[in-house]
Amino acid sequence: MSARIFSANEISTKKIVELILQGHLVAIPTETVYGLAANASDEKAIKKIFQLKNRPEDHPLIVHIASPLLGQSVESFWETKLSEWAHDVPPEAILLAKQHWPGPLTLVLKKAKQVSNMITGGQETIAIRAPKHPWTIEILRAFNGGLVAPSANRFGRISPTTAQHVLDEFQYSETHHELMILDGGSCDVGIESTILDLSRLDQTGPTILRPGMILESDICATLGLTKLGQKDNTIRHSGGILGHYAPHTQMVSMDIGQLRIEDISNQKVVVVTFLDIKTLRNQWASSSIDWIHIPLDPHAVAKQMYQLLRDLDQKGYQKIIIHELPSGIEWSGIQDRLSRAVYGSGVH
Ligand code: TXA
Ligand code: MG
Repeated sequence: MSARIFSANEISTKKIVELILQGHLVAIPTETVYGLAANASDEKAIKKIFQLKNRPEDHPLIVHIASPLLGQSVESFWETKLSEWAHDVPPEAILLAKQHWPGPLTLVLKKAKQVSNMITGGQETIAIRAPKHPWTIEILRAFNGGLVAPSANRFGRISPTTAQHVLDEFQYSETHHELMILDGGSCDVGIESTILDLSRLDQTGPTILRPGMILESDICATLGLTKLGQKDNTIRHSGGILGHYAPHTQMVSMDIGQLRIEDISNQKVVVVTFLDIKTLRNQWASSSIDWIHIPLDPHAVAKQMYQLLRDLDQKGYQKIIIHELPSGIEWSGIQDRLSRAVYGSGVH
């Protein structure tokens, strides 16, 4: 594997597009997490993504598309773009695109006939989103096609939110592909997009398959609904696997008020909490717990969570204890990723 990080002044958009057209993989910054991108119309290039990530081939990929230029007719832009990948595009998709794109929302629609089974994992649906990072938008406009891009991590691991994370994931990979990593800074949102299924509107209504920072209430407000449909577990999506986003260190989630000395039992432990850590340090003065404070703000926590998990996973702790999250809907995406990380932690 040869992988290298490029900053925007080291490589032109024209050169990036040329490389994509030649079948190279490019790690792209998005507002959610970094993606491992390939030309969505090049099956050979798509295959490289599965090899490099070590991802099962029946796990479908999201197609990333450009967003309109200022002054362009937004509605007809989305209608045209979506109908390149999907058929029977419902008005709900256009409403949501107008309101939330470019942004951290993925729409699942009925796939157009010509879309490769390698993208959809053999399913009859296609996932699409317009990402918000300015560099990636520029590349998508110049490329004028779709880029498939799963998160740029090895299958089952924590998603990358910086270019360095992507390099850390793949630099020792044994595949023979080259990887160009575009450094667009650290991701603003920090967790993967909300995935909304609009492919079975007549059966279930719009249904969230993966929660994220665009909330059920945001989608309901856009569509004039009071609630969304219930998830049907027959739909395959890799973020749906328990034990995804897994750190090596054992991780538990609990109310720190209930923490007992037995939970620590001479282990090297770190506690991540919203509470005042000065008070906690005093209370636990006789223990060797390390304390990390996080703000009671879902946007701030989402933005730093994966970086924090990566850092803590490097520090040789025997246990990471995370304070239980508040139960509000604005925490649902973060709660989803943390539960999976807790479930899958410690077994590698
Ligand atoms: O924020 C994101 O969505 C990031 C950035 C790079 O855009 N991408 C991302 O891709 O998280 P990935 O492949 O790591 O996760 C995409 C999820 C998977 O769980 C996949 O199974 C699901 O989307 N998915 C893709 N196509 C689908 C489809 N047709 N129906 C249902 N789920 C689908
Ligand atoms: Mg992923």
